[in-house]
Amino acid sequence: MSEQTNISVLISEERIRERVSALGREIREAYGDTPITCICVLKGSFLFMADLIRAIGDDVYCEFLGVASYHGGTHSSGAVQITQDLRTPIEGSHVLIIEDIVDSGRTLSYLVELLRVRQPASLKIATLLDKPSNRVVDVNVEFIGFTIPDEFVIGYGLDLGELYRNLPYIGIYTP
Ligand code: PRP
Repeated sequence: MSEQTNISVLISEERIRERVSALGREIREAYGDTPITCICVLKGSFLFMADLIRAIGDDVYCEFLGVASYHGGTHSSGAVQITQDLRTPIEGSHVLIIEDIVDSGRTLSYLVELLRVRQPASLKIATLLDKPSNRVVDVNVEFIGFTIPDEFVIGYGLDLGELYRNLPYIGIYTP
């Protein structure tokens, strides 16, 4: 864990808590009484998903989709791979994809195509972090927690070589 010295706090635990609560309320308001099928994009989104669904409240179905694109490095490989598919059909459901970060946009654009053919009643995206400076593929993201600069970030679900997902804050990692 010697890299810890190369981590600076970008978004504190408290700011995350406040923003996630507000985002949850915003999402529930947008959907009204409609049940929402939240799809957690593994692994990075598991903490955000856990906090966000409690902030959304009322009827929420939880689904998990295993996706990998970085393969442990600090840059996207460009290839998106499904490592675990949904266990339930989403046809006719109001689906909200829950992401930890939108970087190049490749993962989400792939997922939107993948899920759209399954004919959900609606398909929207919520991301904790948006890094627009790195965008390669255009994606329409309805709910954004924070817009961040072009830095490699870790913590609150995001990893470096599978470590640091358990940091309670979002940190910038400098090699
Ligand atoms: C990260 C992140 C997003 C994706 C965003 O996943 O969780 O899913 O990359 O990058 P993009 O917009 O450039 O496609 P990663 O492949 O690191 O897997 P992980 O969530 O298991 O850490």
